[in-house]
Amino acid sequence: MGRPTTKTQGLKGLEVIAFESRRATEMASLISHHGGTPVIAPAMREIPLEENSAAFQFADELFAGKIDGIICMTGVGTRTLFEALQTSFSRQKIVSALSEITVVARGPKPVKVLREYQIPITITVPEPNTWREILQELDENPRGFTLQGSRVAVQEYGISNQAFLRELAERGASVLRVPVYRWALPEDTGPLGSALEAISKGRVRVILFTNAAQVDHMLQVASKLGLRESLSKALKNCVVCSVGPTCSEVMRARGLPIDLEPEHPKMGVLVQECADRVGELLEKKDNHSGSGVALEEPPSARATGPGRDPLADSRFMKACRREPVDATPVWLMRQAGRYMKEYRDLRARVPFLELCKSPELVSEVTVTAARRIGADAAIIFADLLLIVEPLGYDLAYDTGEGPVVRPVLRESADVDRMREVEPEDSLHYLYEAIRLTRSELPPDIPLLGFAGAPFTLASYIIEGGASKNYAHTKSLMYRDPGAWHALMKHLSRSLVKYTNAQIAAGVQAVQIFDTWVGCLGRADYRRFVLPHTRSLIQGITPGTPVINFGTGTSHLLEDMREAGGEVIGLDFRVELDQAWARLGEGVAVQGNLDPLVLFAEPPYIRERTQEILDKAAGRAGHIFNLGHGILPQTPVDNVLRLTDFVHELSSRKR
Ligand code: CP3
Repeated sequence: MGRPTTKTQGLKGLEVIAFESRRATEMASLISHHGGTPVIAPAMREIPLEENSAAFQFADELFAGKIDGIICMTGVGTRTLFEALQTSFSRQKIVSALSEITVVARGPKPVKVLREYQIPITITVPEPNTWREILQELDENPRGFTLQGSRVAVQEYGISNQAFLRELAERGASVLRVPVYRWALPEDTGPLGSALEAISKGRVRVILFTNAAQVDHMLQVASKLGLRESLSKALKNCVVCSVGPTCSEVMRARGLPIDLEPEHPKMGVLVQECADRVGELLEKKDNHSGSGVALEEPPSARATGPGRDPLADSRFMKACRREPVDATPVWLMRQAGRYMKEYRDLRARVPFLELCKSPELVSEVTVTAARRIGADAAIIFADLLLIVEPLGYDLAYDTGEGPVVRPVLRESADVDRMREVEPEDSLHYLYEAIRLTRSELPPDIPLLGFAGAPFTLASYIIEGGASKNYAHTKSLMYRDPGAWHALMKHLSRSLVKYTNAQIAAGVQAVQIFDTWVGCLGRADYRRFVLPHTRSLIQGITPGTPVINFGTGTSHLLEDMREAGGEVIGLDFRVELDQAWARLGEGVAVQGNLDPLVLFAEPPYIRERTQEILDKAAGRAGHIFNLGHGILPQTPVDNVLRLTDFVHELSSRKR
């Protein structure tokens, strides 16, 4: 087998990087067998089909007869969607429900999958099969289907096309995004990062790709670590091997060179042929310093990746990706609120809930606050409790005792009565406000969406408002764990829809507020909360950074990290350096000035700002914030000074 070769030393004396995950051990022994030193850097983790929560939301609506049409964007995605659904429903049930609705296939690949499942295709989109042709076909040749007033599911794989979604909405469709996933980055990207660094520095020159998804994951991590340029340079001196045609196709599309593809797409053959030819190939590279390599972004990073648009290149988004910045980004929790005169004037005229439900006013409040204090990000003006209305509760703020939620939830039967959130309809005002605010903000200021974490939201619904000791909440949790978990599942499922709709409307990142979770001990957090917060965070559209924030959580940091989030929000009770060390590599942090420091004199505020920046020590991935929300009595001038201090004291251009 293999091509005839001159006498070689095999892989002797060479380190060989392989990105294989599932068959890592087998790969390592193949490399060793040929005399090489394996450097295994797993680039993927298979996501269990059952974790495709969006697929199940789609199924709920489909079987309830609420879906009028589906647009199948990709072959792999369509197949993954069906396979995920088949973990819970019979194939026949799925096929017969889909046969009742309009099915649009974007191109030959989804067509093939749909035919295989014998699902009638209503509309086949002509070449070149982009979203523009889909719209054109729906406009000009709709075969009895109208977007106006229809509920349309859009199957997505890897990338969400905002422009397409917007056009559908503009034509009057209510869109349900159905992102499905098969592969994710491994939980620990450390080995992958080290391998990429070894390639960049020229320490390792032989690289094996055994799966197409590895290519994009490698590029994604390279971007995250700021290694793309050095990698582009280093790769021209490497022997880059692809296991077979599918993998090579993606490699070529991303601008990666391919020096070897074996006759048969098998791991064993790949290593064998690599061992046979590596000497000759390396020699060639040494003699001709080949032309440079121009790496492309993977599609999922394209929408938000660096170098593409001012939002992606903003300080805030860079910090979320743990990339170096010219100065530490800063925004403040509750940056729009009663400490600001503009806000108080407005509130004198408009009740709080009415304000939240007026997109124009929300946009004005959000943009004014961010601009006035010079923040690097804006947070949409809304409230954590707005979602209780579509869940079936009344909400009031004007009673003088903070928010009031009625009726209270106290037992299992109350959980069963909870409504399913259809956020696209019932919280329409918020998404409208996001669209408007995004269009009014400067192009380099990201807009954050937010939601309460399941625990904090549950506590308001159970207590009926704020609480001192969470007696009713904990009592339900301990008395009736079944009802508790059912409630948390219902909430996290609703919150996924809620945050993903915010993302579809235009927010760049999402903060999850678990404001009151610090009242739980570790074991209870792990047992009663972590799985639900994790399923919320995992359900959030990939590519959108998530900030996982809680207060009084010094004892829970490691567990919160496990629950997820690209950024962990720290309250003011922890030392930032110690907290970050506990959280470990691979995560950004946000925080954590005590909001009461803003009541002191400016020189003291400056000193305390410096202290926090010293603790962050210029490490990439710090977002400056308070350790909790600004208090209404805070002198506004001190807030303006704070953002200036952060920028001045952290400036990397000094
Ligand atoms: O940060 C921002 O500028 C965005 C707006 C925002 C508000 N609430 C506006 C608001 C955010 C992010 C929230 C989140 C929120 N809401 C949380 C988590 C907060 C955290 O810091 O951890 C919680 C617990 C709520 C529930 C809620 N809503 C409370 C406790 C209150 C305060 C009641 C009071 O009288 O102070 C509200 C009302 C609320 N939400 C106000 C604002 C500006 C004050 C309303 C007013 O103008 O009177």
